Amino acid sequence: MAVLQIRVVPDPVLRRKARPVKVIDEAVRRLACDMIETMQAAPGVGLAANQVGVLLRVVTLQMPDEDPFVMINPVITHREGTRTVEEGCLSVPGYVGSIERSVLVRARFIDERSGKHRVEARELLAQAIEHEIDHLNGILYLDHLKSHEDLRQTVAAHEHEDVDFSKPPDLGVAGADGLAVQAGAMGVPSSTTGTPG
Ligand code: NI
Repeated sequence: MAVLQIRVVPDPVLRRKARPVKVIDEAVRRLACDMIETMQAAPGVGLAANQVGVLLRVVTLQMPDEDPFVMINPVITHREGTRTVEEGCLSVPGYVGSIERSVLVRARFIDERSGKHRVEARELLAQAIEHEIDHLNGILYLDHLKSHEDLRQTVAAHEHEDVDFSKPPDLGVAGADGLAVQAGAMGVPSSTTGTPG
């Protein structure tokens, strides 16, 4: 296992669309293990392979006080409701933004042992699944901001001296194959704080 370097904006790999995994082999399992270690070291509740420079549809997630797990080729099959959340990203250090996410999502995915799963997720897990699958499509939470006023610096900004905080982050340009995300139209907005990867 190894802690990998997390790519930050405006690294173009964050704007590329990741390819489906065709064969779950030892290399994919090693990538997943390294991503879990990287996510835990950060720390974050989720990480997508784009963030470590690999364009494969692999995501790792870990909710507080729960075990980490791996989603390979994840697909959201259902979204319900919208809520306003404050979101950050390991690839956009020093900032958080208020955006809308679904209240509930259903998704299917394959694990690192080729087992097929379906999951129904709410709150932080639903938010993290949407955030990480966005990454696989070259989308950052910044793309969901309705205005620049919805983005703000965190107190930890000074810790990231490789980023110039005198101006807003360079959002990069979404690839032509980046998918737009549609939030559910119904629902009860609520507000929680989460930092997916
Ligand atoms: Ni992220």
